[in-house]
Amino acid sequence: MKFYDDILALIGKTPLVRINNITKQQKIKAQVFAKMESLNPGYSVKDRIGISMITWAEEKGVLKKGGTIIEATSGNTGIGLALVAAVRGYKCIFILTDKVSVEKNRYLKALGADIVVCPAAAKPGTPDHYVATAKRISEETPNSFYPDQYNHPANPAAHYRTTGPEIWEDTEGKITHFVASIGTGGTISGTGRYLKEMNPNIKVIGADPYGSIFKPYKESGRVPEATPYLVEGIGQSLPTGNADLNIIDEIINITDRESFEMARQLSRREGIFCGGSTGTIFAGALKVAKDLDEDAIVVFTVCDTGEHYLTKFHSDEWMKEKLLLEPQRISAALIMETKDSGAPGEIIFVAPTDTVAAALEKMNESGVTQLPVLEDHHSVGSLRESRVLAKLLQNRDLLESPVSVVMDESFPVLEVDANLGEIKRRLQKQPAVLIEDFKRITGIITRSDVLDLQR
Ligand SMILES: Cc1ncc(COP(=O)(O)O)c(C=O)c1O
Repeated sequence: MKFYDDILALIGKTPLVRINNITKQQKIKAQVFAKMESLNPGYSVKDRIGISMITWAEEKGVLKKGGTIIEATSGNTGIGLALVAAVRGYKCIFILTDKVSVEKNRYLKALGADIVVCPAAAKPGTPDHYVATAKRISEETPNSFYPDQYNHPANPAAHYRTTGPEIWEDTEGKITHFVASIGTGGTISGTGRYLKEMNPNIKVIGADPYGSIFKPYKESGRVPEATPYLVEGIGQSLPTGNADLNIIDEIINITDRESFEMARQLSRREGIFCGGSTGTIFAGALKVAKDLDEDAIVVFTVCDTGEHYLTKFHSDEWMKEKLLLEPQRISAALIMETKDSGAPGEIIFVAPTDTVAAALEKMNESGVTQLPVLEDHHSVGSLRESRVLAKLLQNRDLLESPVSVVMDESFPVLEVDANLGEIKRRLQKQPAVLIEDFKRITGIITRSDVLDLQR
């Protein structure tokens, strides 16, 4: 029979996958490979350190039968630890911040862990900070083990022992550049150290969000004030014991927008469904590869799966809310679904037979200055408050006339899949556009709805 003893036997030995479409389009000559850590049983690179830190604790006698594992995590290390805990019979308590996606939070609960959520805004060293909270809970919990992935030597050791050799062997020693993110620093330091020992000419490059301290810290030796960013699991506000910056040749800063855009492209154009930190790394890898020739072999890590972020950057709604969505993906349907004002799908209109007085009252009640005139779900005209009032100044009796007497031509009508560029073009000349679905007018988009997208 062919089988594995338990799920933990599937950790590591992840394949390299060549990037084709994106590199071709960008005219990159170097070969770029994804190290598919998302194919680990817990769907992230952190499975490697979960088993490594627990095995260390068992061997040292720190973790005993029935013990509790307590860790501060952005989710993936928790998943890696929880898999081992499930197989070997330990309890888990994980301390997350409120920045961690709901998917990772629920995944950890599904694996049997207890979760404590701390504010992401809490500063390091303050009692509410997630690391301080993890330390406190571990001190208060008997028979517990607090791995402290930021400083535990079994973290980079796992990558030195497994990730590095796998990449070296799979590239037959031909790798020239290794690109990874820096969260705890375990991946880049452990893998980078191994690769440099095998060939000191291999360049190790860190990709880090703007706002994290690593780049300025490496370049100036000073730790600046960190500023918030949206990518999860990477970057820091303080140096970590496991981030050995001497191993890293260069650190490239990447914006949230570019990270998410590149993660979305990897998914859509290469079928590699990945998280935001992979987008950060891939953006860095492409910047590195751009200047290299065909002999270069660039390997970057796919840290985790996109499934952890389905309600975040893999959702157009979330991207739009964060003002990060590419304009060509902002469709009329999306603008209508996520409008700040009014219930989605509800359109305020008048019929051509309504009186002008009733139309003005409707504008007043709903706080709008224009209204479409609809008949049987089709647009037959439009009303603009200023023009109607100008006509009334000349003839007050029009108040009791039907709308059809004073109305102007219809607002332009676009299909639900019209994109932002097209909508903006129409709004240059008209105060609103109507949206049609299956030959029925289903919505209206005004200039202020579009301005809201550009806050
Ligand atoms: C999603 C994600 N990507 C990347 C990393 C970075 O890996 P490392 O901690 O080994 O630097 C982490 C964890 O810290 C992570 O959770």
